[in-house]
Amino acid sequence: MTTGPDLSQIYQSFIVSTQQLQTVIQLFLHDMREGLAHRPSSLAMLPSYLTKPTGQENGIFLALDFGGTNVRALRVKLHGNGQYTVLERQDAPLAAPDGSYDYTASSATAAELFDFLAARLAALTTTGQHYLLGHAFSFPCRLKSIDDARLLYWTKEISTSGVVGENIVALLNGAFSRQNITHIKAAAIVNDSVSALMAAAYADTFTDIGSICGTGHNTCYLEPAFALAAGFCPMYVNMESGNFNKVSGNVFDDRLDKNSDRPGTGRLEKMCSGRYVGELLRLVLQELVQDKKILATQQPVSLPPNAITGKDMALVLSDDSQNLEQIQDWLLRYGLTQSSYADRAEIQKLAGLIIGRSARLVAATYAATLFHIDPELSHQHVIAIDGSLYEKMPGYAGTINKTLKELLGEKARQIDCRLSKDGSGAGAAIAAATTMKIHSVRNDG
Ligand code: GLC
Repeated sequence: MTTGPDLSQIYQSFIVSTQQLQTVIQLFLHDMREGLAHRPSSLAMLPSYLTKPTGQENGIFLALDFGGTNVRALRVKLHGNGQYTVLERQDAPLAAPDGSYDYTASSATAAELFDFLAARLAALTTTGQHYLLGHAFSFPCRLKSIDDARLLYWTKEISTSGVVGENIVALLNGAFSRQNITHIKAAAIVNDSVSALMAAAYADTFTDIGSICGTGHNTCYLEPAFALAAGFCPMYVNMESGNFNKVSGNVFDDRLDKNSDRPGTGRLEKMCSGRYVGELLRLVLQELVQDKKILATQQPVSLPPNAITGKDMALVLSDDSQNLEQIQDWLLRYGLTQSSYADRAEIQKLAGLIIGRSARLVAATYAATLFHIDPELSHQHVIAIDGSLYEKMPGYAGTINKTLKELLGEKARQIDCRLSKDGSGAGAAIAAATTMKIHSVRNDG
């Protein structure tokens, strides 16, 4: 029988020391600077054409939050005092659980996908009223203006045809025309990390970093002096930090990357985000079961790719029953019927290490971003974070905070990580509101 690394070596390969994190900070800072200077870098540092909202934007707006797993259409009221209310919200999966449709596969066309999105929005509105729409599109886009965003490439294993290179706002407006939807106008397109930041900054001006720890992972921040042809100006910059490629992965990271849609890209995201953490656990378990290092009395079973999700990881980590019964039941789903208590404890430990590594690496990138904005850390900063991993994964938020303390010492007191719940949707509405002036000028003209 071939034998791979033993359990303790595998554990070790998911541990990142403080010193390794300090190196990550330096390398991340380096790539930020290179990206800003338009030199080759794993961080794209993309402009958003948005900056701090005033908090006074008001009215009723539509938002579309297109993340990769679900699409969420929202009708949002901005009160003009830093507060907003989500009046209505509808979620729909991009791939039907019963297999009847899958708009994320390469067999789906841009028109099919955007027709689906347009119909979700129309369902939230009454004709006769006019709405401006902010679209949180959670993929790397090169913006030329607030309503011209070209998709650079898909991430998170999405591959819908005919979208890469296109202007996303035009695709959506095209779907509106096909469906005779004349009362909705897509006014702003915004990365979800930027909209999460906008939603939080609407209420609290100290917020200068936004991040998503969900299906994907990405961070943006307020760059005080972003270089444009016309000069320097403050700008929210979408770093596409999930693409950061200077953390060395272990053999499981490499295997996952090799089997992914776009090997060599999204390396940090593939180590950290909800789309991939379950897959890492699957790869580890598959090897351990085959080598009989756990579940030794179990007939080897094959765990199909992506069989373990981020939700499963949350279930494994939340099991505090005496015999780890939840984990036992969960293993039955995969035909793993022979688990001992020790096996289940090992599995929980592995899940904890994968999730812990994710939170620690993410925290290191936050520290780097903070050092870029404020090298002496002499100000207060709020990091607004949206996404299921941050919100729901047991221990995740706590590990980020602990790691920031480990990396920043006393100065960590000035850093406040906050959940920006549903911020990526509401922030898109705020982005649309900031374009009101432009639209009234265009309408008047
Ligand atoms: C992926 C996308 C990025 C997005 C993130 C979170 O990394 O490339 O644009 O912000 O997922 O959804």
